[in-house]
Amino acid sequence: QRNPVSKLLLFGATGDLSQRMLLPSLYALHADKLLPDGLTITGSARSDYDDAGFRDFAKQALDKFLPDDRKDESAVGSFLERLQFQPCDLSDSNSFQPLADKIGDISGGLAIYLSTAPSLFESAVEGLEKVGLTAGTVRIALEKPLGYDLASSIEINDTVARVFPEDRIFRIDHYLGKETVQNILALRFGNSFFEPVWNSSGIDNVQITIGETVGLEDRAGYYEGAGALRDMVANHMLQLVALIAMEPPARYDGTAIRDEKAKVFRSLRKITPDKVAQDTVTGQYEEGAVGGKVVKGYDEELGKDSDTETFVAIKAHVDNWRWQGVPFYLRTGKRMAKRRSEIAIQFKPVPHSMFSGRGGILQPNMLIIRLQPEEYIQMLVMAKEPGLDREGVKLREVPLTLNIDAAFAGSRRRIAYERLMLDLIDGDQTLFVRRDEVEAQWQWIDAIREGWTANGTKPKHYPAGSWGPSAAIALTERDGVTWQDD
Ligand code: BG6
Repeated sequence: QRNPVSKLLLFGATGDLSQRMLLPSLYALHADKLLPDGLTITGSARSDYDDAGFRDFAKQALDKFLPDDRKDESAVGSFLERLQFQPCDLSDSNSFQPLADKIGDISGGLAIYLSTAPSLFESAVEGLEKVGLTAGTVRIALEKPLGYDLASSIEINDTVARVFPEDRIFRIDHYLGKETVQNILALRFGNSFFEPVWNSSGIDNVQITIGETVGLEDRAGYYEGAGALRDMVANHMLQLVALIAMEPPARYDGTAIRDEKAKVFRSLRKITPDKVAQDTVTGQYEEGAVGGKVVKGYDEELGKDSDTETFVAIKAHVDNWRWQGVPFYLRTGKRMAKRRSEIAIQFKPVPHSMFSGRGGILQPNMLIIRLQPEEYIQMLVMAKEPGLDREGVKLREVPLTLNIDAAFAGSRRRIAYERLMLDLIDGDQTLFVRRDEVEAQWQWIDAIREGWTANGTKPKHYPAGSWGPSAAIALTERDGVTWQDD
C-alpha cells in the first residue's frame, strides 16, 4: 500500500551521487508524472546556495547527466520549481533550526535521504530530532557505506534506531533497484521449470562476476579505506547471492523477501583463517590497458604504496540443505577487461552420455543472467550439429537467449535510483536492506578480513585490463571449474 510523503529532504544534495543519480532520477519521475503533486524537494549541504543557486546547480547536473532523449525543457522547468535549498552543517547543532523552518509543516509526510559520510549520521540524527524532523512518520534513507565492519555497522544502526524504528529506515543497496536484479525473482519464482533443479542435485556451481573497467575515479579517500571486499562484496555481491540462494518467499513483500534473504546470509559458511589462503584471492591492478587505453596502476593513481585490494575472488558456501556442496564463486574487481556483471549457473552433467565414443562431447548446461551492460538471460544447451553423422553424432553448445530489451521493446529502462527514490517516497521497504541482513553480511565479511590479517595476506598484482591475478583462475580450476567467459 502506497503512503506517499509530500516533502523530501536531500542531504549531500551537491555531492557526486546527487548530480549523477539522485537529481536525474527525481527529474525522470517528475517528467513521467510519478511524483506526488506538490512534493517539494529541499536540498541541503554545507555549500552556501540559495534556492536559485541550487536550481542552477541542479539544471547543470541534468544537462550533464540526463540522456538527450530525456531532456524536456518544460519538464525541467517545472521540476526545478519543486526544489529549494537550505545550507546545513551536520556537525553544527545550530544549523538544524533554519532547516526545519525552511521545510515547514511536515504533517503531509517527510522522507530524508542521507547521502553523507556515516561519521556524520549521529550528529545528523540528533540535530534532526531536536528540531522535530524525526517525529511521527518521517522516513530516513541511508546510503552506503553503512560502516566498515560489524562493530561500526552496529554503532550506526543503534544511532539511527534511537530515533527511527526499523520500519522507517530505508538502507540503500542500489543493486536491488536494478531491473535485472529484480528479474532474478521473476525468473526463479514466476516460472515452474527452474525450481525443481535449483538445488545441489541440479546445480554444480554458481559463479557471480561483477567486473568494472573504472579505476579509483576520484574516490581515493573512501576507497583506500574500503577495498573491493567492503565496497562490492559486503553488499551488492551478497545481495545477488541471496536472491539466487533464497527459499521461495510466500509473498512479494518486504517482510517475506527480507526474511528469506537474511536466512541466506546467516547460512554463509564462515571462512576461517586456515581457509582464507585457499578460498580467497585478492588483487590490485598495475599499469595496463583497458579498452585500448593505457591506464595507471592503483598505487600510482593513489600517489603512494598501498595494500588495498581492488579485486577479490571468493569460494563461498551456503550451508543449508538446498545448497550443500555447491560452491558459489564470487569475483569482482576494478580495471577488469570488461564491464560485465553476470551470474552463471552451471548445472550438473547428464548422469550418462550415450554419445561418448561417437564424437559427442557434452558441456554442462549453463544459465547465464547478464545484469549489465547488456541485459539478457541465456541458456547454453547442447544441440546436434546438422549432418548425416557418418563419423558420429556431433553436438554443440548453442545459446538460447532472452534479450530483455528486445522482449520489452517500447518500455523504458529505468536506472536503479528512480525505483528506489519512488519506493522511498511511497514507503515500500521491499527493495531496501534490513538491519539483520546488513549485520549478518558484515559478520561473514569480518571473518575474511580477520583471516587476511592473521595470514598477512597482501593483494597480488594484476595488469589493468585483465580478469585479475592468475590465482583467481586457480581458485576454480582446482575444483575442475572454469570461469564462464564471453
Ligand atoms: C558502488 C561502489 O556501490 O557500486 C562503486 O561503491 C562501484 O565502487 C559501483 O563502482 C558499481 O555500481 P554499478 O551500478 O555501476 O554496477
